[in-house]
Amino acid sequence: MLNLGILISGRGSNMEAILKTIKRKKIPINAAIVISNNPDARGLGVARKFGVNTAVIDSKNFKGSRKEFDEKIISILKKNKVTPKNGLVCLAGFMRILSPEFVKKYKNKIVNIHPALLPAFPGLDAQKQAIEYGAKYSGCTVHFVDSGVDTGPIILQKTVKILDDDTEETLAKRILVKEHQAYSEAVQLFAENKIKMIGRNVKIS
Ligand code: GAR
Repeated sequence: MLNLGILISGRGSNMEAILKTIKRKKIPINAAIVISNNPDARGLGVARKFGVNTAVIDSKNFKGSRKEFDEKIISILKKNKVTPKNGLVCLAGFMRILSPEFVKKYKNKIVNIHPALLPAFPGLDAQKQAIEYGAKYSGCTVHFVDSGVDTGPIILQKTVKILDDDTEETLAKRILVKEHQAYSEAVQLFAENKIKMIGRNVKIS
């Protein structure tokens, strides 16, 4: 069976949605490890409640380079059998940019969720960006991670209408509901081997 590693930095609600769906739908993937760069991440306690192993590498107190930090992550992933051959890594609110070495080693095995319809509004504060731009729709995107910021091949997107009186918070709340659905669906598609790549186009069978 495939092994899943989830990387978080905080609340972990996407992680929770994925773990719930795996359990409920008996998706053929083993939730092997949750790693946080923040020792106070709420998601760590949630992962433990699901009986999933957790690990912390505190990025605030880490003295080495980005590459060295990611080597530590890779060694924990490997210890938990989340390998490029037999694993999937989900970034779920993981607020760090990965080193090119990590991305290369796990090519098309790392996925991310972003709270906007990429390629619009990449980077931080995506919901605020969408409101300030005056967009009428936003949403969320699940995509493979490549060497750019939020630029990798798109797997799934879900849209949300932006209302005239939306604030960053109200929009974020509605997008989050869609994020939980989209991320769980993407993990299921990956686990069931239904995702094929043609160049940067993702085909779902
Ligand atoms: C989510 O909205 C996710 O899309 C966003 O952080 C939040 C994490 O929430 N990620 C990014 O903005 C990455 N660029 P969660 O910890 O409750 O899943």
